[in-house]
Amino acid sequence: MSGCFLVIEGPDGAGKTTQAARLSTWLREQGRTVHALREPGATAAGEAIRELLLDPETDLAPMAEMLLYQAARSHLMATRIAPALEAGEVVILDRFWYSTAAYQGHGLGLDLDAVRSVSQAATGGVEPDHVFLLDLAPHVGLGRVGSKRDRIESRPLAYHERVRAGFRVEIERLGARGTILDATRPVDDLADEIRTVVAALECVA
Ligand SMILES: Nc1ncnc2c1ncn2[C@@H]1O[C@H](COP(=O)(O)OP(=O)(O)OP(=O)(O)O)[C@@H](O)[C@H]1O
Ligand SMILES: [Mg+2]
Repeated sequence: MSGCFLVIEGPDGAGKTTQAARLSTWLREQGRTVHALREPGATAAGEAIRELLLDPETDLAPMAEMLLYQAARSHLMATRIAPALEAGEVVILDRFWYSTAAYQGHGLGLDLDAVRSVSQAATGGVEPDHVFLLDLAPHVGLGRVGSKRDRIESRPLAYHERVRAGFRVEIERLGARGTILDATRPVDDLADEIRTVVAALECVA
């Protein structure tokens, strides 16, 4: 695939949407065609699945929760991400399967090999050119999100600590394809650093 696939990951309230918007604006100014998408969502089916997953009234067993995220992901990959990359365009994705590894694997205790193999099936093995992890302590991120918490945000702090640690493990595994950033830094600093890394990527040059 000839496009450029960039992913922004991190716990709740880390600043993913803020940085995805900054990066999209900058790349569009460079004349690139940019698809700024989010998971779960960005398609009609994906947004419906998102609503079900985040509704505090929804009761879901861990494996069912994991598979719903993967269902939304599979549809998004097939209908939006893969076609854009094949057309040589840029995709900026707010969360990807590393979130599923962190929240449902490390967080809920589902087998990580199972999460990885279902992720592989859902994505067709399409891997990002680069992944940014906005890392921060859960109490800081949840403080930014405010008092109205969704089904996942409402989980106990110990759960969110496992998610944070899990994200770090997953992104460290990527080596040079991943960058871990301290998400407590100012928005402009983080945007600058992300731009610098992206500007050096072969897929953008
Ligand atoms: N670097 C930062 N420093 C301080 N506040 C920030 C920073 N980045 C984002 N914020 C603020 O924190 C809040 C959450 O930001 P944002 O929505 O971008 O995070 P998110 O990771 O997308 O959250 P969610 O997981 O809920 O989607 C917003 O009010 C945003 O303005
Ligand atoms: Mg967001």
